[in-house]
Amino acid sequence: MRIAIYPGTFDPVTNGHLDILVRAKELFDEVCIAVATDSKKTPLFTQEERMELLVEATKDMPNVSVRAFGGLTVEFARQCGAIAILRGLRALSDFEYEFQLALMNKKIAPDIETIFLMTQSEFSFISSSAIKWASSLHAGVSDFVPEHVEKALIAKYSKSRSTLNGEE
Ligand code: COA
Repeated sequence: MRIAIYPGTFDPVTNGHLDILVRAKELFDEVCIAVATDSKKTPLFTQEERMELLVEATKDMPNVSVRAFGGLTVEFARQCGAIAILRGLRALSDFEYEFQLALMNKKIAPDIETIFLMTQSEFSFISSSAIKWASSLHAGVSDFVPEHVEKALIAKYSKSRSTLNGEE
């Protein structure tokens, strides 16, 4: 069994992430999406919400699973029996950070490879942050995320607006 993990914050999952998954699921027997519990970021969506959005987005991908993880990515990869850590590369600007992360992981766990897949050009400019920013300003983001994720973003921002307006 060739297993890969695909770690990230996924706040929220985007069509860019899904493009990577659609291609990776053909390369590996199993792909485990590893949703970071202790990311350096302050997520908009809770851990459970991020996982639910991913489960829905990947429901037609039988060899893709979604799990939460904390601590070292390479340790989680070992627990899953994975041979590889999968990462998407969007632009040259991603490279330096990803290169550093991959070398660090290789040093800690020489037996686990980091595999990079180039994001398709149509998704190369999107990020979860840009999508959240656009959605918070009422822009439609249906070109960049699945429908259920757009609905979740609209719900999240209308809730925070109601709270700000003292409607709760
Ligand atoms: N299409 C669109 N967007 C993409 C993308 C793609 N194919 N690939 C990445 N992105 C975006 C994401 O949307 C995200 O955007 P954001 O910054 O606006 O949220 C950004 O690129 C990268 O974020 P993410 O994939 O969530 O990774 P990260 O940089 O937050 O790293 C971990 C998360 C979990 C991999 C990393 O923090 C980690 O390994 N932590 C565990 C501790 C550890 O082992 N550290 C290393 C050794 S010390």
